[in-house]
This record gives sequence, C-alpha cells and structure tokens, in this order.
Amino acid sequence: MVDLGALSLEQKASLTSGGDFWHTQAVADIPAVMLTDGPHGLRKQATSADALGLGNSVPATCFPPAVALASSWDENLVDRVGAAVGAEAHAENVAVVLGPGVNIKRSPLCGRNFEYFSEDPFLTGRLGAALVHGLQSQGVGASVKHFAVNNQESDRMRVSADVDERTLREIYLPAFEHIVRTAAPRTVMCSYNKINGTYASENRWLLTELLRDEWGFEGLVVSDWGAVNDRVAALVAGLDLEMPPSGTDDEIVAAVRSGALDEQVLDRAVARVLDLVRSAPQDAPSCVADEHHALARKVAAACAVLLKNDGDLLPLDAESAETIAVIGEFARTPRFQGAGSSQVTPTRVDTALDAITAVVGAERVTFEPGFVLDGVRDAALQGAAVKAAEGSHVALLFLGLPPQDESEGFDRRDVFLPADQMLLLAAVHAVNPRTVVVLSNGGVVRTAGIELHAAALLEGWLLGQAGGSATADLLFGLTNPSGRLAETIPERLPDTPSFPYFPGGEQHSRYGEGIYVGYRYYDTVEHPVAFPFGFGLSYTEFELSDLKVSISDGNSASVSVHVANVGDRAGATVVQVYVHDVACRVDRPVHELKGFAKAELEPGETHTVQLELDPSSFAFWSVQASRWVVEAGEFEIRVGFSSREIEATARITLPGDEPIPTLNPMSTIAEWLAHPSGGPVLMEAMKAAGAAGVPPELVAMAADMPISKLVSFGFGLSQEQLDGLLEAAAARVSG
Ligand code: BGC
Repeated sequence: MVDLGALSLEQKASLTSGGDFWHTQAVADIPAVMLTDGPHGLRKQATSADALGLGNSVPATCFPPAVALASSWDENLVDRVGAAVGAEAHAENVAVVLGPGVNIKRSPLCGRNFEYFSEDPFLTGRLGAALVHGLQSQGVGASVKHFAVNNQESDRMRVSADVDERTLREIYLPAFEHIVRTAAPRTVMCSYNKINGTYASENRWLLTELLRDEWGFEGLVVSDWGAVNDRVAALVAGLDLEMPPSGTDDEIVAAVRSGALDEQVLDRAVARVLDLVRSAPQDAPSCVADEHHALARKVAAACAVLLKNDGDLLPLDAESAETIAVIGEFARTPRFQGAGSSQVTPTRVDTALDAITAVVGAERVTFEPGFVLDGVRDAALQGAAVKAAEGSHVALLFLGLPPQDESEGFDRRDVFLPADQMLLLAAVHAVNPRTVVVLSNGGVVRTAGIELHAAALLEGWLLGQAGGSATADLLFGLTNPSGRLAETIPERLPDTPSFPYFPGGEQHSRYGEGIYVGYRYYDTVEHPVAFPFGFGLSYTEFELSDLKVSISDGNSASVSVHVANVGDRAGATVVQVYVHDVACRVDRPVHELKGFAKAELEPGETHTVQLELDPSSFAFWSVQASRWVVEAGEFEIRVGFSSREIEATARITLPGDEPIPTLNPMSTIAEWLAHPSGGPVLMEAMKAAGAAGVPPELVAMAADMPISKLVSFGFGLSQEQLDGLLEAAAARVSG
C-alpha cells in the first residue's frame, strides 16, 4: 500500500470520507474496506439494496439486543456473542461492525433503549468492553457509539444535550472511557447531537482532549451516518472519517490551499484511515452460523428476567398431563429485535408456540392469538382466547410492544402496553388465575396492571432469533432463569428523574436530574419502584455470607464473599457490590454499583466471589479540582442481589488522595476545624481567648462562615490575629 507521503492533497482529502454508503474510499492501491451495522448481529446490506436498505441485508444470526444482553450480567457470554458476530462479519469481508451502543438509559422513553445496555455506567462499560473484546478477537474492528450523550431520538440530529461536567464524567462518559482504556476499540463513532451547544462531530474537547489525550485512544473516529455538518471543523476537532460521503472533499482541499486547515491535521486523519485499512482482515473464512443459533438460544435464556412467580407456578411440568392455553400473537409472531439500523435479517426464527409444542406435544396445547399487532381491539379474538384459557390448566400469555411502538428515530410517548392487550389479560386472568405473562419489549413497560393479573411474569425483553425456544426452556425449567434487571422498572413514568426534562424543546435537552439517573435517584430519595435495579428471581434460592473487605493498597479494596445455592436446583445468580460514601463534602448517590459477578452453582454448592475495588470505585468528579477525588474517610461496601436487597455490609476507612487544602481568609470555620493543622490552631486560639465554652449552637451557626467574617463582624478576632492563625496553620503543615 502506498505511503501517506506519496498521496496527493486531493487523494488525502477523499480518504477522509467514504467511497459509498458503507465503504471507505479506494485510492491508488489502497483498497476500500467495509463498515456495517451490528451489533447484536451483522446487518450487511445485500448489494441490491437501496442506500438505507433497512430491511434488506444478508442473513446473520440475530442475538439478543443489548437490552437483553445486559440483563445477563455475564461478561463471558457477551464476549462470546461478540466473537460470534465478529466471525460472521469476518466471513462477510467486513472490517468494522458498528457497535456496541453504550449510551446510558436516561429515560425509559428513549426509542433506542433496546440497543443500549443499562442506566448504570459501570455495568454498561463492563459489558460493552466484553462485546468489543469478542468482536475484535475475530480480526474485525468495533465502533463504540454514539459518542456521546445521545440519550434520546427526538431531534437527535440537532438537539443540544445540556449537561454539567460532573454528570458527564460520572454518568455519560465512564462506559466509553472504560471500553477505550481496556478494550482498545478500533473505532469510536461520534453522535449526531450537540453537547452543550457544540456538535459532537466538531467537539475538540470530546474527540481529542478527552478521547485521545486523556484516555489514550489510538483508533479512528468515524461520524455517525450524516453527523458531519462542517468537514473542516470536524477534522480539526479530531474526526477522521466522514460517513457516508457528502461529496465535499473539495472543501478540504480548498481549506488546505487557503491556509485555513493545517495539512498536518489532514495527514493525521489520513494516517488513521490507512491504519484502519491495514488492520482489516484479508481473508474471508467461512463460518458455521448454525452453531451460532445454539449460542443465541443459550444467551437468550440467560437474559430473560423472572419478575414474579407466585406459588412457584413456574417452572411448568413438561411431563404432566396439564393442558396449556398459549395466547398472544407474539407466541407465533415473535418480536425479537428492534427496528432501525440494527435490524438483522435472521438466519431462522424460533417461535415460542413451536418450542412449547415440541416440549409437551400438540395435544396439550391450544393456541389463540388473542389480539392483532396493530392495536385494534378484536372482540372475537379476545373471546376465543378467554375460552381457551378457561378450558386449560394454565394460560401462557405472550404480550408486548408491537414493532410500531418503538424504534430508532423516535421516542416513545408512554410506557403502557397496548390497551387491547391489557383488556385481554384481565379477561384471561378472570377465568384462569394460573396465568403466566411473558413480555416482549425493548423499553420498560409499566408492570403494575400486568402483575395484578398474572401469577407469574417473565420479562423477556427482545431475545433474538432463538428467543422462542429459550423462553420454552425457561418456562419448563430446562434452564433456570438468571437474568437480572439492568434498569429499574419504575412504578410510573412521572417517577423517573428525567421526566420533567425529557426530551426537551427548542433544540435543547437539559439534563436537570444531573447524576441522579435510575437507581441513583430512586434509592437516594427512597422512592418506591416496581422492580429495583439488579432484581431477578430464580427457581432456586441463594444466600450470601462471610463478607470480608480489606484495604489492599491506598484507596483500593478487596472484597470476598461466599455465595451459596441453598435451593434444590442448579442455577446462577449475580452478586452485586455497591459502594456507599458515608460522608462527603458533595452530594452523592446513596450507593453506586462498582462490582458484580455471575455465579453458577449446583444445589448445595458454595463459591467464594472475589472482587477488586480500585480508586475509581470510591471517587467522585470534583468540579473544583477538575479531577477524580477520593475523599478521605469511611465507605460502606454493600453486597447483595439487587440495589434494594443488600445482604451484607462492611465499612472501611480510606486515606483519600487529596492534598491538604491550603487555608485562606475565605475558608469557613468548619473547613478550619476539619483541617489537620488549622483545626488545632483555631481550637487553641479559641481556648486562649476564653471562647472554649461557646455554645454548640453558636459554633454550628458559624460553621459555614468564612473566618474573615469574624474580623469584619467584630467577633473579637483582629486582622493581625487572623494573619497569625494563617501563619501558624501553614507552619504546622510544612513542619
Ligand atoms: C445510526 C447508527 C448506525 C448508522 C449506520 C445511524 O443512523 O445512528 O447507529 O450505525 O446509522 O446505519
């Protein structure tokens, strides 16, 4: 391949935008390479497809989308999904798979929540890194998207996400940072939106200072499709490749010629494009997609979350003679992925109806669709379904959001299931209390009304092409449910912290809830929720014991805890570690997830889970210091099975990492008293002045007062004395 130095200005300019919708530009002997969608399966457009071609792509295994994958809380499994998608991409000659999407679920309404992992940055980062690792293990590159703060679909190409710095650092950036630092994705995709008024594609702070200078990213930054508005500004900011091409290469050439663009900036981007082309796999080995279907089934079964199981109605007995009414169009027309750019053409699709029939035999099953997917109530269908439920031992009801209710490109307006489905559910439950509901939905739905009419509730999210058979595996106990919620299910939409602000208006979305996203809000304000973050049931029981926490090194700690399967079936659970900062000078969420481990256990078996908490587990973003700070003091390590099922706690005291602050005349009395040298100096001075007996309420009242005000208010402290105190305090520190 020719060197950068041998390329003309025109050739270099054209390398920084695509050759067509999905390929880089072929220039001289530099081949074009393909970037195409994923990430829960390959979406490679068939050659005959139109530019967007959303429906027409080569068949590929459709794994569960991120909403479901995240509920597995299983990095190994997510890594295996990445590797399988990577293998299929490699076989199709694809250089980069456009994913994973790691934006945070700020509101249940975001139309693309099915493509994102969680409301929690730690979980998102860990699982996103696993997917990138798996993908890249096959030689193809990943593209971590949408960088950054793309948390809504409304007005996504113009809206400015107006977010304060601490919220960016603590909520919206850490997943990207973790993935960049630990999994070295070959590319990062910048988002459409603006961040605090500047397009992500033109945001030098984001694309260069943060991503490269701070986090050490060495790959290529590609635009989201059509996210570039000003080619020159984008190059200067650190965007290397515009996709798809906008036909504006001559603007780059002219800018270099006029001196408006430094040619070195262009060279830098071209070098990164050349690196990407060089890194693309050369061969295209064949790949056995059939094995991937089996993996998709295993993964799907690990993703569904059992929310309710009154009287242990589940698992159903595959061997008994009980009859089963299978109700709901979704049982035979499954909804297993979301719409938009991630929509895969599956290699095959398992339906729950077929899978259930295969387990128990056709003679035990009656199927009724109960409703149609366009939401228009059909009384005859409902009547037939109720009749089937009445005449059966168990009613399995497959409900969910129809495809038109959620998609890339628009946000939802509410969190309700269609009214006709709710009416059907109530009617079925009235004749058969042994009603089990299986949900298919990409975004959270309100569960209150559903729970009322269901003895058991399985949240299936969108389970990919093998979701139907995986669901049967779970319902009949061939697999024990082990999914845990990666997002809180609120009682009502207005409970959600972003509710007053989402999606904003006049091209702005104000992130007024700040760092209080998801459980960080609900748990801090102790607001009731329908199901907490991390929650999920199993057909067996688990117990935690013997929590031990030790400080391993400075501001790091090691956690070890025993987890036992105390039930009578094999199963898996997720041990979750939350950190609570006991006292801090800034407001913090009551606790934050900082570690987790999925443990698979035979009945009676015990494992020791060991996790390391590094300083980032304890730090907050200090706006004042413009860096992460671990404040010295006590931290509580909380270990449990959800953010609201904390089974064991232990406290540690960390040294913190702050330099001792310098006191000055505007430091408050409280700051003086808390200061290692200022405190004793002030106490001694107060004693000497006979002020030792000042009533505590007066001390409390003065706590927030800068010490110089004691001088100006004439509280018996002279300017000279204050100067003396400052000197004495400084002398003690240095001494
Ligand atoms: C989406 C990206 C996607 C790209 C290419 C955009 O509209 O936001 O996620 O990868 O299209 O299809």
